[in-house]
Amino acid sequence: MNTMTFTNNMTGASYEYNILAPTRGPMVVDIRTFFADSGMFTYDPGFTATAACESTITFIDGKKGELRYRGLAIEDLASKHSYLEVCYLLLNGSLPTKEELTNFDLEIRHRAYLHRGLHKLFDAFPDNAHPMATLSAGVTALASFYDEHINLDNEDAYLEMAHRIVSKIPTVAAFAYRQSLGIPFIEPDIDLGFTENFLTMMRAYPGGKMRINANGKELIKEVEIRALDTIFTLHADHEQNASTTVVRGVASTGAHPYVAISSGIAALWGRAHGGANESVIAQLEYIGSVDNVEDFIKRAKDPEDDFRLMGFGHRVYKNFDPRAKILKGLQDELKSELNLDTELMKIANKIEEIALNDEYFIKRKLYPNIDFYSGVILTALKIPKEMFTPIFVIGRTIGWITQWIEFKKDKASKIARPRQLYTGE
Ligand code: ACO
Repeated sequence: MNTMTFTNNMTGASYEYNILAPTRGPMVVDIRTFFADSGMFTYDPGFTATAACESTITFIDGKKGELRYRGLAIEDLASKHSYLEVCYLLLNGSLPTKEELTNFDLEIRHRAYLHRGLHKLFDAFPDNAHPMATLSAGVTALASFYDEHINLDNEDAYLEMAHRIVSKIPTVAAFAYRQSLGIPFIEPDIDLGFTENFLTMMRAYPGGKMRINANGKELIKEVEIRALDTIFTLHADHEQNASTTVVRGVASTGAHPYVAISSGIAALWGRAHGGANESVIAQLEYIGSVDNVEDFIKRAKDPEDDFRLMGFGHRVYKNFDPRAKILKGLQDELKSELNLDTELMKIANKIEEIALNDEYFIKRKLYPNIDFYSGVILTALKIPKEMFTPIFVIGRTIGWITQWIEFKKDKASKIARPRQLYTGE
């Protein structure tokens, strides 16, 4: 085993620690006994250099711009596999056979319905309530409807718990949306696949499938289903990001898995994280015209101004976010089919063009992230911006629940309880 020696230059004392070798990525120094050995803490706000767990789920190489789920490249998964296949992969470690996929799909369809009691909870929210608030509350409430002890030795039991939340989350999100508008809910349709079902619950008129509108036009185009399915896949997991860290932190206290996910939803809402997709479009609308872009770029670069370009920058990616690359490709593909050539898109293109060639952004390695492109595509899918982050939630729920299971099964897991550098009285 390779080791690393830390020397305290005040006392001359030395401490030796094992270096753990990952299958991919940087080596990791195991400092678990550091405090016991030296009486000192380590200081790392924002965990920029700290691995808090061992994981086999997702791998990111931020310098190369590489992302893999269970070892498989995101580019292949996004282009050759459906979101449900990716869910199965994350949960089970390998892609499903045809039969496994059929069974999984059927189970997900069957579990999409919500207990009627939940309707009363939605009713308590005011018109125009942000769907993220309703969604987070709805998922917490689900913990009371399924308040069972999850036995991690019983694979069927914990997979049922995982399948149930993946299946119900689009229904909760669609109901949250319709509640915000004050319009009747559309129940899930067992005849529809995961993504089409969600779009139908969002868009359909009350009282039926309504895949055809009054003019005889298709209400939901195949291309829209495919685009949204890809967006779900690109959001499915992202290793130890802020919301997943929250999910693991809540898991560490022994709380119900759905409560951990509800906490993840709350963490995702912030605009430095998943809320950025809504903020990107709000910002593009605020900028208003291609002619104003230069002024806003100047503001983003001004250290005295707290204005930031939404959808730019990432803690891990110091290269193009590979998910953003895929979405940019999808955006170009959909341009004519979904009438994407709007003023907003022109503003977005101009920002991208200037920022990618500007010294400030180049020096700080600030590239567009997934949220920069997802908003424009979701707008073209006629999804209002308040639903962008709930859509991120739908995609990410499989990642959160898979990480929850991994955390619970890991014998090294401990309650999350960091230390501090106290500088008060
Ligand atoms: N616009 C302008 N400048 C920026 C931006 C931005 N979007 N992002 C970072 N910077 C600058 C910072 O001001 C800082 O400059 P300095 O070194 O001169 O002080 C430098 O780049 C480093 O930024 P940090 O905030 O230290 O980077 P960190 O890794 O902590 O934050 C984050 C990453 C939160 C994503 C940040 O880039 C940001 O706020 N981006 C905008 C919001 C966004 O798009 N979030 C979505 C992220 S992806 C996701 O969660 C799905």
